[in-house]
Amino acid sequence: MPDNRKLQEEIAKLKKERDAVILVHNYQLPEVQDIADFLGDSLGLSREAAKTKAKVIVFCGVHFMAETANILAPEKTVLLPDPASGCPMADMISAKELRALKAKHPGHIVVAYVNSSAEVKAETDYCCTSGNALQVVEKLKNEKIIFVPDKYLGSWIAGRLNKEMVLWHGYCPTHAKILPAHIEKAKKEHPGAVVMAHPECRNDVWPLADEVCSTEGFLRYVKTSRVKEFIVATEPGMLYRLAKENPGKKFYPASAEASCPNMKKNTLEKVLWSLQDMANIVRVPEEIRLKAKKAIERMVMLV
Ligand code: 13P
Ligand code: SF4
Repeated sequence: MPDNRKLQEEIAKLKKERDAVILVHNYQLPEVQDIADFLGDSLGLSREAAKTKAKVIVFCGVHFMAETANILAPEKTVLLPDPASGCPMADMISAKELRALKAKHPGHIVVAYVNSSAEVKAETDYCCTSGNALQVVEKLKNEKIIFVPDKYLGSWIAGRLNKEMVLWHGYCPTHAKILPAHIEKAKKEHPGAVVMAHPECRNDVWPLADEVCSTEGFLRYVKTSRVKEFIVATEPGMLYRLAKENPGKKFYPASAEASCPNMKKNTLEKVLWSLQDMANIVRVPEEIRLKAKKAIERMVMLV
């Protein structure tokens, strides 16, 4: 059993020597969340990557997030402690498939969820995250939208806006494990609890939720709510931060099964090794990077 505290101390020492910052997504392992210089959702982490003064960014998240950091901060060295931590949903659409979809629907504006590869972003007009997807699509003048790759996030937006939306058939296999029966069971067990769900959840889960929002949205909602108990329909890594920042409030996972195996690949040992060897650098080819950056910048300018 590795000694987490010892590893955390070694990482803190090496981090200074390398002039590194550690960015951590809300779904990472608790002991990895504890070494974060910045802990957040995809949107917050991209913003942090863009403004950091550090030379090295250790990205404890999944591959598309590290790519986004490199797209926004090309002069920094971005390390992904476990290079195999991909996102199955991001891999559900390729640039070639998106080009074919665009050819089928000329005149449509393409919005890509940030959970997509740099190549897909390069074929995209606007990016969005779960924290701003609704605002991005709402603000677009164009009424005809191609939305990729998440069919659930896409249909959540389509249900709230009067726009013609062509959806891709991607989805998050982790969130898809949360079923309405899980929410109903949790509600019976905790009758006073409020249900919060991520928009990556299936469309038969949202109607059972009191609030549908991004991971950072959960934190804002809990902090301003008078309620003391919450059923959380998302990756259970989120519960560690919710509980830590809200002592006195209780959190129950809608389903303990919905753990994202890729998010859990970045262990403390791998963080240390990547810093020691300056290994697992994520770099997007310049031509793709410049095109992908435009889609991210358009998002930032819009919302
Ligand atoms: P957010 O952090 O943007 O809510 O996204 C959740 C997610 O699934 C990231 O992979
Ligand atoms: Fe991808 Fe889902 Fe894992 Fe997020 S939780 S990284 S969307 S598979």
